[in-house]
Amino acid sequence: MPVRPVIGGIGSPGALSEALAAAQYDADPELATAAYLALALGKPLLLEGSPGVGKTEAAKAIGSVLARRVIRLQCFEGIDAAAALYEWNYPRQMLAIRQAGEDYLNIYADEFLIARPMLEALRAPEAAMLLIDEVDRADHEFEAFLLEFLSDFQISIPETGTVRAPVAPVVVLTSNRTRDLHEALRRRCVYHWIDYPDPEREARIVMMRASAVARSTADAIVAAVGRLRAEPLAKPPGVAETVEWAEAATLLQRQGAPWPEAFRRAIGVALKDHDDMAFVAPRLDALIGGEAA
Ligand SMILES: Nc1ncnc2c1ncn2[C@@H]1O[C@H](COP(=O)(O)OP(=O)(O)OP(=O)(O)O)[C@@H](O)[C@H]1O
Ligand SMILES: [Mg+2]
Repeated sequence: MPVRPVIGGIGSPGALSEALAAAQYDADPELATAAYLALALGKPLLLEGSPGVGKTEAAKAIGSVLARRVIRLQCFEGIDAAAALYEWNYPRQMLAIRQAGEDYLNIYADEFLIARPMLEALRAPEAAMLLIDEVDRADHEFEAFLLEFLSDFQISIPETGTVRAPVAPVVVLTSNRTRDLHEALRRRCVYHWIDYPDPEREARIVMMRASAVARSTADAIVAAVGRLRAEPLAKPPGVAETVEWAEAATLLQRQGAPWPEAFRRAIGVALKDHDDMAFVAPRLDALIGGEAA
């Protein structure tokens, strides 16, 4: 497989990491390496991890670094080729047939084709990046179909012929691991498991993403979130929740709520499950800890 040394001018994992940081994404070295290798080898990147660890955002940041439009295919139960590839616009075809009368009409002209994300990405492989988000929500049948697509990057449209990408498009897949993906699909990709960031990185992310939050607040929130994640919660807070909790507590604090009261009152942006809330309520002071902010 030919190695493409220059992808968007990025020459190494370190350079990619710096470019991602400039795009407001703090990637750990392992993620930067996996993403760099996927790009250099022309393979899809498969990012797996718990909800809210930054999978979708990583893909978007990679797209931004490459100056490519991110075409997102959000997977769901029952997703099929019509939602992923293309559909014929029947109402428009019908209307055109009526208007054409006796005249010749090609009802399979491009104007009647509704391109869905996978076809769109094939048609613009140098300008776009395909994000196949939450692939674990799709069923096995769709996964098999995806595998075929990722093998040869071509789509056969029975009425018009085959659409083939001249070069392999950049593809990022994400999965929340609600089920195991097929071995064959994994094998085709460069794989990386995104973990929760360590406290230092998570505080940096808060400072990067939240507006006007003090570093001491970020540290206190990150420590509390770390303790919450160690509890048996149904929905442990993700990184987005950390960022929002820091912002919300800062807002309440600015309106006069003393610390850690502001922190405690803003818990609703960190925990969004009734049972989790009931479990945490009596332990909240201990979980929040005494850090001043
Ligand atoms: N490494 C990071 N650098 C900067 N921001 C991050 C990072 N990780 C997470 N975030 C922040 O966390 C938010 C949530 O991330 P994202 O939506 O990508 O998570 P996800 O893993 O796709 O979650 P889900 O499984 O719920 O779709 C992002 O909008 C971003 O603000
Ligand atoms: Mg996501």
